Amino acid sequence: MSQDSIAATSLAGSRNDGKRGLWSSRWAFILAATGSAVGLGNIWKFPYITGENGGGAFVLVYLACILVIGIPLLMAEVMIGRRGRANPEGAIAAMAREAGASQHWRWLGTLAVICGFLILSFYAVVAGWALAYTPAAASGAFAGLDGEASGALFGALLANPWKLAGYGTLVLVLTLGIVACGVRDGLERSLRFLMPGLFVLLLILVGYAATTGHFMQAVHFLFDADFSKLSGTGVLVALGHAFFTLSLASGAMMAYGSYLPAGTSIAKTSIMVAIADTGVALLAGLAIFPLVFANGLEPGAGPGLIFVTLPIAFGQMPLGQVVGGLFFIMLAIAALTSAISLSEPTIAWLSEKFGISRLKAVLCSGAALWLLSLGTVFSFNAWSEVTLFGKTFFDSLDFLTTNLMMPLGGLATVLFTGWVLSRKTVQESLGIDQPQLFNLWWQLLRFITPVAILVVFLHSLGVF
Ligand code: TRP
Repeated sequence: MSQDSIAATSLAGSRNDGKRGLWSSRWAFILAATGSAVGLGNIWKFPYITGENGGGAFVLVYLACILVIGIPLLMAEVMIGRRGRANPEGAIAAMAREAGASQHWRWLGTLAVICGFLILSFYAVVAGWALAYTPAAASGAFAGLDGEASGALFGALLANPWKLAGYGTLVLVLTLGIVACGVRDGLERSLRFLMPGLFVLLLILVGYAATTGHFMQAVHFLFDADFSKLSGTGVLVALGHAFFTLSLASGAMMAYGSYLPAGTSIAKTSIMVAIADTGVALLAGLAIFPLVFANGLEPGAGPGLIFVTLPIAFGQMPLGQVVGGLFFIMLAIAALTSAISLSEPTIAWLSEKFGISRLKAVLCSGAALWLLSLGTVFSFNAWSEVTLFGKTFFDSLDFLTTNLMMPLGGLATVLFTGWVLSRKTVQESLGIDQPQLFNLWWQLLRFITPVAILVVFLHSLGVF
């Protein structure tokens, strides 16, 4: 890439690069973005929605969604972050200014920051479940568990606000402690050992699953596409999950993109992140389904698949304490690296917009997050009867963010990139060398992606 185009990848360029800190290399960015993408979505949600929607055909549609919606939007977000070199609101404002468009576009960035903040308040509580299950699994508490006892164990955790709040607080403290240390010393240094640790644990588990004798059954379940098992709703679930699993529309990828060194190919790095994320989801399926089949359990058991069904398997298998302990540590690590990315937009936004230090931003947002997370904690016990439009506090937050804010924010980001920014600006910031490849992406982003997002959105509102 020429010097000119390297300079063009960053609008604010030299002014901000030194002050804000950058990833030390493109590998650090790939590690961080993969850490964000790989989380509860891959290990908890992907296997259970695959189970509920019949397996192979669903997986195929999900892969198509990653390709058609996920990758184009991921590239757009990283590009806006890097060229704007600021928190999501600042970056979008800078891009709008350059394009001569309305400054009101900045609200899109504010919406993304708020969305990430809200998601983190309940994500931390669910991540806490994984932390709570780690000592239980490792100490042999699952030995000889049957379905009913396992359900009761999970029910007892949800019924205990002290435990839920305690583990949720621990997740928040760990997350914000790492974020407070900054981009290189905090995020990058911790991710350097968390992410390889995660991959190693996952491979060990897949290796274990391969010894159960039911490995091929899982392979067929995941990869034999039988479209008669896939409903219209299944297609839409796959679309929605493509959003969630790549951490889109919540400021996370824009914030991480803003620390990406100039001259790195956004297309290549984004595709690598999407491949790693999809790879982990498929590996998680290969680790979990052989255990499910080997123990005669139900793949379509729903959200309880990991917290209710898997403990039964861990309680019966040889070395179950070790495998189970490893499994829940892995889940906690994956959730932690995602939680870090959910908090970064808020921290960058607070410190840059109000000119306060990162530490102050962490303390302020930490206090607010903690208070809000108690709402989620109590929605499983003391306030389980308190509902808004028939949903508990947790369900309302989940609905507001996943079903309303993310599709709307994603749609607006796609329209902003494809229709407001100039083709020339986008082309030079992305750094795709081959014109045909750029054209393919550009047409996808302008026409196919927005229509696909609109379909998910309208469906999630029950329009059809
Ligand atoms: N992608 C993560 C997962 O699969 C979760 C996550 C991180 C996320 N950042 C996000 C989800 C932003 C939505 C928006 O678990």
